[in-house]
Amino acid sequence: MKIAVIGTGYVGLVTGTCFANSGNEVICVDIDVDKIDALQQGKIPIFEPGLEQLVSYNLAAERLMFSTDLAKGVSSAEIVFLAVGTPQGEDGTADLSALWTVVNGIAPHLQEAAIVVTKSTVPVGTNARIFAQLEELTGRQCFVASNPEFLKEGAAIEDFEKPDRVVVGVREPSTAEVLRQLYEPYLRTEHPFLVMTPESAEMTKYVANAMLATKISFINEMANLCERMGGDINDVRRGIGHDRRIGFAFLFPGVGYGGSCFPKDVRALTAMAVQNGIEPRMLHAVDQVNQNQKAILLSKIDTHFKNDLSGKTIAVWGLAFKPRTDDIREAPALVLIDHLLANSAQVQVHDPEAMANIRQVYGERIQYCRRHPQALSGADALVIMTEWSDYKRPDWEELKQLMRSPTVFDGRNLYEPERMKERGFCYYSVGRPAV
Ligand SMILES: NC(=O)c1ccc[n+]([C@@H]2O[C@H](COP(=O)([O-])OP(=O)(O)OC[C@H]3O[C@@H](n4cnc5c(N)ncnc54)[C@H](O)[C@@H]3O)[C@@H](O)[C@H]2O)c1
Repeated sequence: MKIAVIGTGYVGLVTGTCFANSGNEVICVDIDVDKIDALQQGKIPIFEPGLEQLVSYNLAAERLMFSTDLAKGVSSAEIVFLAVGTPQGEDGTADLSALWTVVNGIAPHLQEAAIVVTKSTVPVGTNARIFAQLEELTGRQCFVASNPEFLKEGAAIEDFEKPDRVVVGVREPSTAEVLRQLYEPYLRTEHPFLVMTPESAEMTKYVANAMLATKISFINEMANLCERMGGDINDVRRGIGHDRRIGFAFLFPGVGYGGSCFPKDVRALTAMAVQNGIEPRMLHAVDQVNQNQKAILLSKIDTHFKNDLSGKTIAVWGLAFKPRTDDIREAPALVLIDHLLANSAQVQVHDPEAMANIRQVYGERIQYCRRHPQALSGADALVIMTEWSDYKRPDWEELKQLMRSPTVFDGRNLYEPERMKERGFCYYSVGRPAV
């Protein structure tokens, strides 16, 4: 099939590349000229495991193209995917300005039988509005569908190729059938293809993210209770996870969720609920708990250093909002670094992939270390914000030699408190007793 993907970010690039890889002819369009220039040369603007090789392979096979020319991209496409960003607006609602620019831009170039598929996460009712807008602009009833994306950054290709499910929201069965054929290579091992109304599909995406965010905020609140009342959240987590009604997935305590999706999608759903006269008490709580959790290590650090961080050197391991990505949008590490700088600490950071993005935010106000042990040179404490594998088995003796004081604030519970005590460290984690 001939496909155009509009918006070549995390979702658009993965979508376009994977569809090219299953034999389709794909053109990815973006307004970012530098990004398209780089992609045309096979250079990937983001870090996503396996993506670079897949892009190069499909570029060479001439199934994948990149362009800034919307008209060229859309005019020959049988299916047009919309994958532009829908960031949080000032009032918490999703900002759809990029989406509407694209809808208005594609209308004059659409083939009569083309299907316009929304992959961006959009408020319930947007698909119906796209249908109406295209009808007004083209003078005919166009084919539209909602196809929310559930991939995880860091495992995006695997998620795309082996989806837990594919959800499509359509107005007529024939549109679902075209999309089923497109996804067929990824459904062979009985991955479900779920057909519903566009409104249900749009709602599904928000409900999925709200549920995942709720699990994280729930376990974080329980971790905070454990700390006060003497339990160990890791034991509690295992104690509840074996109950099949609860399970283990997404129940790791930490420093709160970040990224480009959970924070904004929880707030967008909250705004939708309020607009519809419903007080979303759980959603408010999920967001509030998360805001609080992002700062959970700050108070431990302040207490440890008796509210005086000036002249202290703090090492930070992990800057991305999660491992295996360079994405720092709403990352808890940003809250930590802001606090450390505001309190005159010297900050030395390491992240395997996200340092270029962090440098764009902090410039030369912090020190960037190529190897993670270097960040500990002369440090009064180490703070761990992202659970990259690189950090799981450090050489503790080497680190102790490098540090001014052997103190670790572990926001991801990577180590055993008793073992850290034996190694001579003062060790703080989340939901477990400090040692
Ligand atoms: N990132 C994820 O993990 C993820 C997962 C599921 C769903 N989503 C949703 O998918 C959508 C895209 O997210 P993303 O993370 O890929 O965003 P992104 O910011 O990485 O990429 C968006 C791209 O759209 C481009 N763009 C903006 N305006 C444009 C226009 N007028 N014409 C062409 N291109 C334009 C931007 O230049 C950018 O490259 C969002 O709605 C998001 O909520 C994201």
